[in-house]
Amino acid sequence: MLARVIPLMEHRQFVERQLAHSFAESLPTTDVRDRLQRPLRDLRISVTDRCNFRCAYCMPKEVFGSDYQYLPHSSLLSFEEITRVARQFVALGVRKIRLTGGEPLLRKNLEELLVQLAALRTPDGQAIDLTMTTNGSLLSRKARTLKAAGLNRVTVSLDALDEAVFKRMNDVDFPVAKVLEGIEAAQAAGIANIKVNMVVKRGVNDHEVLAMARFFQGTGVALRFIEFMDVGSTNGWNMDAVLPSEEIVRTLNEHMPLVRLPVSAAGETAQRWGYAGPSGQHLPSLGEIGVISSVTQAFCGDCNRARLSTEGRLFTCLFAGQGFDLRQLLRRSNPTIDYQMASTIASIWQRRSDRYSQLRARMPPRGPGESMSKPEMSYIGG
Ligand code: GTP
Ligand code: 5AD
Ligand code: SF4
Ligand code: SF4
Repeated sequence: MLARVIPLMEHRQFVERQLAHSFAESLPTTDVRDRLQRPLRDLRISVTDRCNFRCAYCMPKEVFGSDYQYLPHSSLLSFEEITRVARQFVALGVRKIRLTGGEPLLRKNLEELLVQLAALRTPDGQAIDLTMTTNGSLLSRKARTLKAAGLNRVTVSLDALDEAVFKRMNDVDFPVAKVLEGIEAAQAAGIANIKVNMVVKRGVNDHEVLAMARFFQGTGVALRFIEFMDVGSTNGWNMDAVLPSEEIVRTLNEHMPLVRLPVSAAGETAQRWGYAGPSGQHLPSLGEIGVISSVTQAFCGDCNRARLSTEGRLFTCLFAGQGFDLRQLLRRSNPTIDYQMASTIASIWQRRSDRYSQLRARMPPRGPGESMSKPEMSYIGG
């Protein structure tokens, strides 16, 4: 009998398939843990490093001016590449994916990415929680198509209701009304669980806290107050500009009584407070607020968040100096790569011990010019 001669190409494909199979078998499928026993649950994907706002705490105009060199399009992960990476993260335990930027809605045809991500399934067949952080400027136009593409919920950044204060903060003269229109459009489109994020800077917008709380009370929108953080190295952070969340809760409580709400998900960033009704109990129709105390009460202890930068680097902390280049893995033409990627991600996570915000409080203050290398939030994702 004549032996069949296997052509070289076919043979290589056979070997690669076998390899892929053995990788698949050796893959840690769920619940990878880091050195502090923290699981991997939340993946934040930055889809662009560009934004149409110039908030001084994130992309100050002096640094992100007209000559700023953004990443070229070829450096960005394509939607297919993002989905391939995300699939491996989901296999390793991720249950929530947040699209961020820069401003994610500036990325063309973002709906196509949402459709692909919405189709991902956890090992036990569940869909993932698919959400986005946006400045709201393009939301009124896009809310319906985003919802149709699979966006479950949305978080809109809004730092003030007062027109002059808001314009000073976004630094591009963008009006409050357009952002509010975006929030209304998201509600009308049936996007559930809308949140508003307000970064509070002492002396800049802290006098807007009460007005913001009054405005959103009873609307179904959860307002969250965020302490101004020392992310990146361009926002001129200093502790004097941080308004501790404790002060916010104390002030609000004097005007609108609050009761502490239980934690709703492990590793959540916000401490939740509900508005009390006449009985002193939480009255759900009045809604809730959140405080995110990243500076004064760090929440690294159960941090389950990984970040994928615009060009495909994996960061295990918002303040990590370096990210791991997953793009070079993705762009090698070899079908076993996706399995290798999962093993790589798992081993990076297993080696993780980041807890920058907890350690910050214990670090000696830095002198002028002594800065640590930290990625910008617009690049790594909020
Ligand atoms: P939900 O799932 O809706 O609760 O969202 P989230 O709070 O996980 O995400 P969001 O992007 O709304 O985060 C709100 C803000 O919290 C961010 O803009 C940051 O200022 C801060 N934040 C989020 N994640 C981290 C983190 O891992 N570390 C630190 N230090 N701050 C974070
Ligand atoms: N401190 C706190 N939050 C920040 N964000 C950006 N820069 C900072 C900072 N320095 C967050 C805000 C904004 C989102 C896009 O990123 O929550 O809404
Ligand atoms: Fe843009 Fe958001 Fe950064 Fe403001 S905080 S510059 S809206 S990415
Ligand atoms: Fe997580 Fe780093 Fe933020 Fe701590 S500082 S909560 S470890 S991302």
